[in-house]
Amino acid sequence: VKLWGRMLRALISALGWRGGIQGCAFSSQQPHLTPTGLLSATELISHWTAVFEKRGIPEARESSEYIVAHVLGAKTFQSLRPGLLTQPLTRWQLRYIQELSSYRLQRMPVQYILGEWDFHGLSLKMVPPVFIPRPETEELVEWVLEEVTQRPHAVGAHGGPLILEVGCGSGAISLSLLSKLPESQVIAVDKGEAAICLTHENAQRLQLQDRIRIIPLDVTLEQNWAHLLPWGPVDLVISNPPYVFHRDMEQLAPEILSYEDPTALDGGEEGMDIITHILALAPRLLKDSGSIFLEVDPRHPELIGSWLQSRPDLSLNLVAVRRDFCGRPRFLHIQRSEP
Ligand SMILES: C[S@@+](CC[C@H](N)C(=O)[O-])C[C@H]1O[C@@H](n2cnc3c(N)ncnc32)[C@H](O)[C@@H]1O
Repeated sequence: VKLWGRMLRALISALGWRGGIQGCAFSSQQPHLTPTGLLSATELISHWTAVFEKRGIPEARESSEYIVAHVLGAKTFQSLRPGLLTQPLTRWQLRYIQELSSYRLQRMPVQYILGEWDFHGLSLKMVPPVFIPRPETEELVEWVLEEVTQRPHAVGAHGGPLILEVGCGSGAISLSLLSKLPESQVIAVDKGEAAICLTHENAQRLQLQDRIRIIPLDVTLEQNWAHLLPWGPVDLVISNPPYVFHRDMEQLAPEILSYEDPTALDGGEEGMDIITHILALAPRLLKDSGSIFLEVDPRHPELIGSWLQSRPDLSLNLVAVRRDFCGRPRFLHIQRSEP
């Protein structure tokens, strides 16, 4: 407790604290002390972990570790040079940590606070409200890479495949496929202007801009698909579409509800609104025996299986379902039957 008091007073002094972030347990009545030798990275992490825990912020320790590591120029706390952990921080660093932590207190996701995040080994710029790529989507990418490299003919991937991604967001899926498949090309579409801009930026950042065509497009407007016809036919369609059941939206964490674009998540009554548009229109763009890979809710494999049976005109078959790392059926491989 004594140490806490000293640390907090030193922090107040270092920051010229005047009331500041709502809910922080600081008192402007405390005497000002010089922070000499006190506020090291480890002490700051303990301090902010306790503040976050007290305020009910999820992943309190991870959040403070990421923020402090970022300010010290590292990606993770574990990758910080041991010497940096005990060294006193500069006034500027303290102020920056304070500022970033205040965003976390407002439930901003760490990925937006840091402004970048790794996906499948690529460092991507992150900007709200563009959807933050989730770790399970890396499994979808892995599956597609496995099929394309090991069984290209079985998934209809000819040569360097031409891939269409529906709902590219930050560009995570498209760019990771391009980086692993040097002969491939991607058409990435999204209806969100912020998503289109961010995919452009991330493609430039990774020097992949020459193999990706990024098109603003709402796939629910049928006439829009006609714009894609000149770019096809494509070997593969891939999508992590908005698939949350509308009634489940309000149960999402405040981090998601307050910062991420709801149209990136809300899939309508049964989470199928965008999925059915993709399935109804993809056969027009797919080559014979081309494939569709989707990330979905665990309730969807059954719903989509029945929906496809009710639409034999589409000539699409659900050929495989994969489980995510939690064992839930989340990924679908749907193939166009040869005529
Ligand atoms: C779940 S996010 C996936 C983003 C990215 N592919 C990823 O996995 O990180 C769904 C994306 O679909 C886009 N989207 C939603 N409705 C759309 C529509 N009607 N047409 C095109 N894109 C749409 C959203 O803007 C969002 O970027």
